[in-house]
Amino acid sequence: MLGYGSGAMADLLILVAHPQIEHSRVAARLMRRAAGLHASLKAGVEVRDLYALYPDYWIDVAAEQAALAAAKLVVWLHPVHWYGMPPLMKLWLDEVFSFGWAYGPGGQALRGKDLWLVASTGGPQDSYQPSGYNRHFFDAFLPPYEQTAALTGLRWLPPLVMHGAHRVPEAELQAHEDIFAQRLAQYPDWPEIAALEAETACLVPADARPAD
Ligand SMILES: Cc1cc2nc3c(=O)[nH]c(=O)nc-3n(C[C@H](O)[C@H](O)[C@H](O)COP(=O)(O)O)c2cc1C
Repeated sequence: MLGYGSGAMADLLILVAHPQIEHSRVAARLMRRAAGLHASLKAGVEVRDLYALYPDYWIDVAAEQAALAAAKLVVWLHPVHWYGMPPLMKLWLDEVFSFGWAYGPGGQALRGKDLWLVASTGGPQDSYQPSGYNRHFFDAFLPPYEQTAALTGLRWLPPLVMHGAHRVPEAELQAHEDIFAQRLAQYPDWPEIAALEAETACLVPADARPAD
């Protein structure tokens, strides 16, 4: 699957980044479910499988920005690799969230949209605590994501995370998939959203970067 759904004008934009989706238990399943939703939802859904679209890492920045401009909810769906995002997702971010488009003077394109991280970890939940082998609660790995959202005017929604992805029982995986689908179907009417604070304004001045 490359891009799938109702086209580049979708309200719900699901960006999937998994370097080995053929071996995936979690991301592949959520990607399939999201792609299947577009027929039943009023809001359009577009699923973009970044590793399938860009096997050579040549990202079509204009196409990605057009898909983002149309979206209201942007979903980053990926496994956690080295406590962060897989490399193509990071390259996507470096290239697509550009100065003057996503942030800095004139960089307003993402303001007012929502960003939802849907991730999975190999480490089980109890590894993500001070006494566990990952030494920190999972939230401690999220500030770069949250600040990326704040800098670009995206509202950071509470992430949906599946821990212990390799061993989680089928029933739990199914429940996770159902929550994911339910949230997409109900967006923006989520109970969590009502409790969120207003967006943080982080304005980068024009002279923050040297002139080209
Ligand atoms: C290169 C690489 C790095 C990984 N780094 C982490 C990590 O930092 N923390 C963690 O809990 N799991 C880590 N994992 C495990 C993945 O998060 C796990 O395989 C994935 O969430 C499973 O999702 P999937 O079924 O969609 O493949 C890593 C896996 C790979 C291949």
